[in-house]
Amino acid sequence: MVASGAWRRIAPARRLRGRFGLPGDKSLSHRLAILAALAEGTSRFGNFSTAGDCGSTLTCLEALGARVTVDGPGRAVSIAAGGPGALHAAAHPLDAGNSGSTLRMLAGVLAGRPFPSVLDGDASLRARPVERVAAPLRAMGARIATTDGRPPVTIDGGPLTGIDHTLAIPSAQVKTAILLAGLQADGRTSVTEPTASRDHTERLLPCFGVPVRRTGLSVGVEGGARPTPFDMAVPGDPSSAAFLVVAALIVPDARVRIEGVLLNPTRIAFLDVLRRMGGAIRIGIERGDPEPVGWIEAETSSLRGTDINASAVASLIDELPILAVAGAAADGTFRVVGAQELRVKESDRIAAIAEGLRAMGALVEEHADGLVIEGGRRLHGAAVRSWGDHRIAMALAVAALAAEGETLIEGAGCASVSFPEFFAVLDQAVGAD
Ligand code: S3P
Repeated sequence: MVASGAWRRIAPARRLRGRFGLPGDKSLSHRLAILAALAEGTSRFGNFSTAGDCGSTLTCLEALGARVTVDGPGRAVSIAAGGPGALHAAAHPLDAGNSGSTLRMLAGVLAGRPFPSVLDGDASLRARPVERVAAPLRAMGARIATTDGRPPVTIDGGPLTGIDHTLAIPSAQVKTAILLAGLQADGRTSVTEPTASRDHTERLLPCFGVPVRRTGLSVGVEGGARPTPFDMAVPGDPSSAAFLVVAALIVPDARVRIEGVLLNPTRIAFLDVLRRMGGAIRIGIERGDPEPVGWIEAETSSLRGTDINASAVASLIDELPILAVAGAAADGTFRVVGAQELRVKESDRIAAIAEGLRAMGALVEEHADGLVIEGGRRLHGAAVRSWGDHRIAMALAVAALAAEGETLIEGAGCASVSFPEFFAVLDQAVGAD
């Protein structure tokens, strides 16, 4: 669990207003930093994520020999490196903190490096499955030991051979790890997914001079790649935007506009779900390469429940807790199935969001692979807990804005894992004219 800070008190909001630009996308920032550390030369990124998770990635890359500079205002990050061969063994175990992306993606890099590494994390990360990434990397030739299928992970990297791997569970982290190993392997590596997960790695590799072959749900790379540096201004994080969008839909007299936000189709399926629920949401795409970027507007709406099926889960994976809050504020039935992956995220997110929403008066039925919420009941303030999980803390804070009476959230400080500015942005939106 993350050291998650004290209780946070949230009062109901009578209105919400604001025009926001958000810190850079977390998924893009992890990938940009890792690819820059594999490139020969200096890459520069503007609006790099402020998330604690991306800080973990930068610290690990520094320990492996990349030279990282972070300049506070505008979050300019520059990474100077000398190609894969210039990385060296870290002097100590690499600490991925709370970040599954850091641990799983770096496993792919380290599988191909001829030195030993240990990847570890906090108590939450030590409870999460890593065999899904260790097994294909072993099949490529790396020697990897896990601790009963969980971190710490010990990697004895070395020469790899390309594989054609089909993922049992769609996962952009695992796909990315295999592709990063594939860049260092002998021959071709391909990954096929059962349903599409976020595709940032495939979009970014060509920016670093590495060709990618994409056919349907498969993506392939050739081994022996020599990435070249790349500069990018990172668009705002749509998964952070999701909390503000739902807040705008469920608080009375609300209207928000979020600018410069990433609008990659594999990341904004939550907007389609919210529209289907009756949400008044508009988006505009302003530029498209290598990632679509633009604005989102949302305002107070009467929501109705909807069904979220297994095939949609991969593209909604991080937004399901905040969508459950929209479901609790809606009329009718909100149902999610096929989402058992939520139980192995930073917390058991099915149990955590069900507990929090129930405490606030929602009628929630929990299932092994999802939940059913009977909407139409006014939420009331309550004492709830974050379970040390950033997205649970922020989802319950948004529910609290639309509840009657005050809510106390225990351990709300963990929001900093993905969105350190969250409570300040919320205060500003509630207080804005
Ligand atoms: C991520 C992929 C998802 C997501 C995580 C970020 C990524 O995890 O939940 O927050 O950046 O690739 P999985 O790939 O394990 O589903």
